[in-house]
Amino acid sequence: MKTVEFDTFKMAYEEAGSGIPILFIHGYPLNRQMWRPQLEQIPSVAHVITPDLRGHGDSTPTDGIYSMDLLAEDCVNLLDRLNIHQKIVLCGLSMGGYVSFAFARKYADRLAALILTSTRAAPDTEEAKLNRQRSMEIAQAQGIDPIIEAMLPRVLSPTTLQNRPSLVETVRQIMRRTSLQAILGDLQGMMERIDSRPYLNQINVPTLIIHGMEDPIIPIEEAQAMQQSIPNCRLILIEQAGHLPNLEAVERFNQAVREFLETL
Ligand code: MLT
Repeated sequence: MKTVEFDTFKMAYEEAGSGIPILFIHGYPLNRQMWRPQLEQIPSVAHVITPDLRGHGDSTPTDGIYSMDLLAEDCVNLLDRLNIHQKIVLCGLSMGGYVSFAFARKYADRLAALILTSTRAAPDTEEAKLNRQRSMEIAQAQGIDPIIEAMLPRVLSPTTLQNRPSLVETVRQIMRRTSLQAILGDLQGMMERIDSRPYLNQINVPTLIIHGMEDPIIPIEEAQAMQQSIPNCRLILIEQAGHLPNLEAVERFNQAVREFLETL
């Protein structure tokens, strides 16, 4: 693990390989450890960088709202510190996808391609906002454990939950390394995120959407709708995978990423 010091926090990351830079942005409430199979297997074709967003994993927390724009800015600051000025491939999963939309809006000139995994362009519904409020109250009163136990069955497919107890445990342990500040900051940031649907037709880089067919959080129809709106976009659906196809279907996920990188 390496770190860079910014004014308000220390950002942890890992990197491996050489070639086109590919930055993997994790989801909520996760950290860079969720990209372990990608960090191990994609570097033969690219320079893989996996940061911990502020307050997640080994990155130190800050108080306040973690807006998607703020998290995208943290990623750009990391690229600057690493002296990466060539265009990158950005791969964001779920909340990491929301951050990718913010990145694509603000820093379009730094993007070579986009991989959107298990994510949606639509903002939170009123019901989703209420659920996030409730989660914040629970986290403030009882800490992060109940949040994580409630999230676990939502991020993994029924197939994974039933047949792969060690993967379930790995994901639990990854989630446990999220600070209370990050849980609260993420929930507020996601709740306030803007509707990215009006921007989809302005995405002018090759885009790949990867979505698990058993994703309990985001229905595949949302991925299909995004594909229709993004001009140069492929969609790969992965069977028996839930919200974390990069962990639940490592081979198929990595193959999809490798094949996409080859087309660039
Ligand atoms: C995530 O996996 O990043 C979150 O589930 C996204 C969300 O809650 O909207």
